[in-house]
Amino acid sequence: MKNKGIIGSIIALAVVLIGVFAYQMGSRQTDAAADKPAVKTVGILQFISHPSLDQIKDGVIAGLKKEGYVDGKNIKVEFLNGQGDQSKLNSMSQQLLEKKSDVLVGIATPAAKALANATSDKPIIMGAISDPVSAGLVKNLKKPGGNVTGVNNLTPVDQQIDMAKELFPNAKTVGMIYSSSEENSKSQIERAEKKAAEVGYTVKKYAISSSNDIATITQQACKETDFLYIPQDNTIASAFQTLINESDKAKKPVFVSVDNMVKEGGIATVGQNQFELGVETGKMAAAVLSGKSDPADTPVNVIDYGDMIINEEKAEELNITIPAKIKEEAEVVKGE
Ligand code: TRP
Repeated sequence: MKNKGIIGSIIALAVVLIGVFAYQMGSRQTDAAADKPAVKTVGILQFISHPSLDQIKDGVIAGLKKEGYVDGKNIKVEFLNGQGDQSKLNSMSQQLLEKKSDVLVGIATPAAKALANATSDKPIIMGAISDPVSAGLVKNLKKPGGNVTGVNNLTPVDQQIDMAKELFPNAKTVGMIYSSSEENSKSQIERAEKKAAEVGYTVKKYAISSSNDIATITQQACKETDFLYIPQDNTIASAFQTLINESDKAKKPVFVSVDNMVKEGGIATVGQNQFELGVETGKMAAAVLSGKSDPADTPVNVIDYGDMIINEEKAEELNITIPAKIKEEAEVVKGE
């Protein structure tokens, strides 16, 4: 009888000890989980590869980092590139949602649109979109209203055309080449056409339906006009050398819309720093991650300024004298 009592006490004690031990283990585990918050995922979708979009993507990563979000440490970046293919963009948008992205970033209009078609509740940050309202991405730049906000790079078209007028005072006709499938280009061309007419140019427009058209359309445009004007067009940017090869043969200057295209053989632009556009985009994605911003009431960041850039080598090649005023104000580069 006595033994049974002792055994009973030992068992009871053991049960209590095991209970206490298990409880402590449990609380230790929850402490550990509280110290280390779950790593959040940033899903980035880029439309196509070309120097400008590649720089924007690097800028996005740098912008996130500036705000304390480092890939591989406290965030995971899932990056996909649609290589200019609409069906890829759609399936990649689904993949980024399946990876449970906490915030999505769409670089260039077709990528941002594919993401917006795939989800109406996950936050989406637009990376350098030319015209978010016409593209149907936001209702209103000041009050987006839905799950999309971000950076609108409004190319300084008026300043570009003014600069072109100073560079080519005797030119009469300007040829504008753009992709018929890119809304971002169409909206820029509309603005450029209006301004060019105001300064006295006759405008001829040339639409391409894919990069396969670039060579023949450029030849034709060079024959029919005094100089070319190229908008921020992704298809042209991804095959820019093809265009420059033809314009060089015809000895016609190409006024462009981004700094990278000046380095690649364009004559000049008033352009925006593509990396910085990405940094601003990354910062906006960080604000969503930290809970500081909700796209519905976060105004779109409209970046509408740029810097004058001129390619001195190309000017010499084409016998164009750079006016003193431009030489003073512009960043002078050589071709690459
Ligand atoms: N703004 C373009 C769009 O909405 C994307 C873009 C950004 C771009 N920078 C560029 C295109 C430079 C061509 C060249 O799609």
